[in-house]
Amino acid sequence: MRTRPLKVALLGCGVVGSEVARIMTTHADDLTARIGAPVELAGVAVRRPSKVREGIDPALVTTDATALLKRGDIDVVIEVIGGIEPARTLITTAFENGASVVSANKALLAQDGAALHAAAEQHGLDLYYEAAVAGAIPLVRPMRESLAGDKINRVMGIVNGTTNFILDKMDSTGAGYQEALDEATALGYAEADPTADVEGYDAAAKAAILAGIAFHTRVRLDDVYREGMTEVSASDFASAKRMGCTIKLLAILERAADGESVTARVHPAMIPLTHPLASVREAYNAVFVEAEAAGRLMFYGPGAGGSPTASAVLGDLVAVCRNKLAEATGPGESAYTQLPVSPMGDVVTRYHISLDVADKPGVLAQVATTFAEHGVSIDTVRQQGKDGEASLVVVTHRAPDAALSGTVEALRKLDTVRGVASIMRVEGE
Ligand code: NDP
Ligand code: HSE
Repeated sequence: MRTRPLKVALLGCGVVGSEVARIMTTHADDLTARIGAPVELAGVAVRRPSKVREGIDPALVTTDATALLKRGDIDVVIEVIGGIEPARTLITTAFENGASVVSANKALLAQDGAALHAAAEQHGLDLYYEAAVAGAIPLVRPMRESLAGDKINRVMGIVNGTTNFILDKMDSTGAGYQEALDEATALGYAEADPTADVEGYDAAAKAAILAGIAFHTRVRLDDVYREGMTEVSASDFASAKRMGCTIKLLAILERAADGESVTARVHPAMIPLTHPLASVREAYNAVFVEAEAAGRLMFYGPGAGGSPTASAVLGDLVAVCRNKLAEATGPGESAYTQLPVSPMGDVVTRYHISLDVADKPGVLAQVATTFAEHGVSIDTVRQQGKDGEASLVVVTHRAPDAALSGTVEALRKLDTVRGVASIMRVEGE
């Protein structure tokens, strides 16, 4: 057992960082035994130095993160500030000064993961980021390491705790969107700017990271098709219930049947109540991974919050410290396939479309013809009429997204179609 401690710089001491510091202190002996050397918190960089931080020695707190990284004795940097800058520059500075990095920053990894991996590799150091995707759930390392000998063809899951919390509350208690978002924020689940959660950017960043790992290619945030959940309404939940479904914000990553391209998307979708993802409540996450040899795997657990996320950060800390002692590094980026990311129009799935139409003879035939003209086959139609107006709900068979978009565009031009009330994809059947 080495007695000289490995020195850790903690960048950020908010919801996640404060829990990382707490567990590092309370579990110090276990961490020492598991790593084979003590770990010492050598400095904590924050924005507001005068804020009282329970369990943190005020002498360790600094606003000068760069000076902390450059002092020359830091072995591992834990970056839990979030956002692009200064996190990106600080991580680069950490590598330049010989420190491996553990980060929970999905926004940065989705945008600049390739450059950061290259910097880590150039300096012979580690970049670990289990906490960046799905909170406490061990997912990144199982996919990067345990499934490295298999071929992953599809990943589908709930990867944002805040939006799952909101959708679950709207569905199960009838809570309003804002009320549920406020509660998720108070519980520490939401991003500093919750727009990242509700507009799907956070899930899209996680989708980009997972797609890169799953398909051994580079997928950036901009490659991921994204729709948030702010438009999901009580009437969408009522429609979903009538179909025996609920609504979840899903991340879906697929390898094309010919294996020559991939797709990555995040959007709300109806899923059957019998599907395991339908029973994922509150801020929990769950991810299905379909691999050629392994078959279907499901990963489930708390997807957000200080303590669950700190668990994933500390798991990485132990791994990175062990690597340091062994003078080795873990796996770097694996992007050798260079598969292109196809546009959303190429995605094939089912759709639930609600139309407000005139309640008169021939309307149903006109609508059905429009679907047929665009090659979209109808599975079921339900019509409810009242006072000359009717609501028409069409559920399609599987069709390319481009064909569905063309259909909707044409439907909007029909005199008898007063409006397209909602369009939602149907998954998991
Ligand atoms: P918080 O906003 O709670 O904490 C951010 C911390 O960074 C604060 O301590 C803040 O200082 C510090 N900080 C901000 N700017 C600077 C700066 N320029 N220099 C030094 N320190 C700075 O965020 P979270 O803890 O919730 O999230 C941190 C990261 O973890 C993000 O990347 C997030 O996406 C990720 N994450 C969060 C999860 C969660 O459930 N919250 C789950 C999984 C990942 P001060 O305290 O003085 O304001
Ligand atoms: N805001 C994120 C979420 C934190 O709600 O999932 C976990 O990454």
